[in-house]
Amino acid sequence: MARRATFAPAPWTHGSITNKLPLKMKVTVVGAGNVGATCADAIARWELANEVVLLDIKEGFAEGKALDIWQTAPISLFDSRITGSTNDYAKTANSDVVVITSGLPRKPGMSRDDLIATNAAIVKSVTENIIKHSPNTIIIVVSNPLDVMTYCAFINSKFPANRVFGMAGILDTARYRAFLATELNVSPKDIQAVLMGGHGDTMVPLPRYTTVGGIPVTELIAKDKLDAIVERTKKGGGEIVNLLGTSAWYAPGTAAAQMVEAIVRDQKRIFPCCVWLQGEYGLKDVYMGAPVVLGRNGVERIIELQLNKDEQALCDASAKAVREVMDVLDKMQVTA
Ligand code: LAC
Repeated sequence: MARRATFAPAPWTHGSITNKLPLKMKVTVVGAGNVGATCADAIARWELANEVVLLDIKEGFAEGKALDIWQTAPISLFDSRITGSTNDYAKTANSDVVVITSGLPRKPGMSRDDLIATNAAIVKSVTENIIKHSPNTIIIVVSNPLDVMTYCAFINSKFPANRVFGMAGILDTARYRAFLATELNVSPKDIQAVLMGGHGDTMVPLPRYTTVGGIPVTELIAKDKLDAIVERTKKGGGEIVNLLGTSAWYAPGTAAAQMVEAIVRDQKRIFPCCVWLQGEYGLKDVYMGAPVVLGRNGVERIIELQLNKDEQALCDASAKAVREVMDVLDKMQVTA
C-alpha cells in the first residue's frame, strides 16, 4: 500500500514505509514533559501501538499534549489513538510497554546524580502505580540518574530483569554517531557503534566496535580527532544543558521510542541498553549499559563482547561509579 508515496520522504527511518500497527498494543508514557511528549509523539507517528496513553501529575497537562499530538494524525497520517490523563493510572491498565520519564531534569551545574533523592521517590511511586494496573508490562526507564533509577524501578516492581531496563545507550551512541557523521561528512545512517557503562561521564564509547559503512572508524579518522569525539560524547548531555538551561529531549525521547519499536515489533534489534548484569563482563548486581537483543520479551539476551584490558578497566570504573550511587539509594531506603 503506497500510502506514503504521495508525501515527501518520511522523516524517520524506523518502521516500514507503510507503518503497520502491531495488533492490540498499548503503550504508556509517564511524564508529559519534553522527553515524555517527544517519545509519545514518535510512538504515535510510527504507529507503534493502537493505544498510546500519556500520563502526568500536572492537571490537564498530559491531556493537552496528547490532544495536540492527536491533532497531527490527519497530517502525518497515523492511526495510533493517543490520550492524556492526569494521574489516573486506571487509564494505563494492561499496557504492553511503559516508558517512565518522570522526574526533574538537570539544570546547569548539576550532575545527573544530584537528582537522586527527588527522582527516586517519584520513580518508586510511578512504578508501584504502573504495576498495579499492568502486572505483565515491560518497563523502560528514562529518568535520571538513569542507571540508578532503572535499579529503583527494578526493585520496586519485583519484575524479572528482562522486563525492566533503561534507555541511555541509544542516546549516547546517537550522539557519538552524529558527531562522527559531521566530522567525516558521511550519512549518520552508515555509522554503527556500541557503547557500554553508566549514563554519565564514565560511559565507555568503544571505537574498536565502531564502523562506518562496514569500515572500522579507526581507518577513517585520526586518533586525536576520535579521542576528542569520545570525550565530547561523554559530556554530550551536559553540552545541551549548558546551551538550553535544561536537559535534552528530542534525542532522548526518540531513542526511547526506538526501544519501544524493537519490543512491539519483536525486531530482535541490537542496542546498548541499561541492563541488570549478573556476571556478564565480570560484573554482578549492577545496572549498566551493555549491548542486548531487544524483542517482544524485552531484553532477550545480553551480548558479551571480548573487551581488551583497557576497555574492561573503563567498564569496571563505570560500574564502580554507578554502584556508589546505587548505595546512596539503598541507604535512602526509598527501595522496597
Ligand atoms: C541527557 C540526559 C537526558 O543525556 O540524561 O541528555
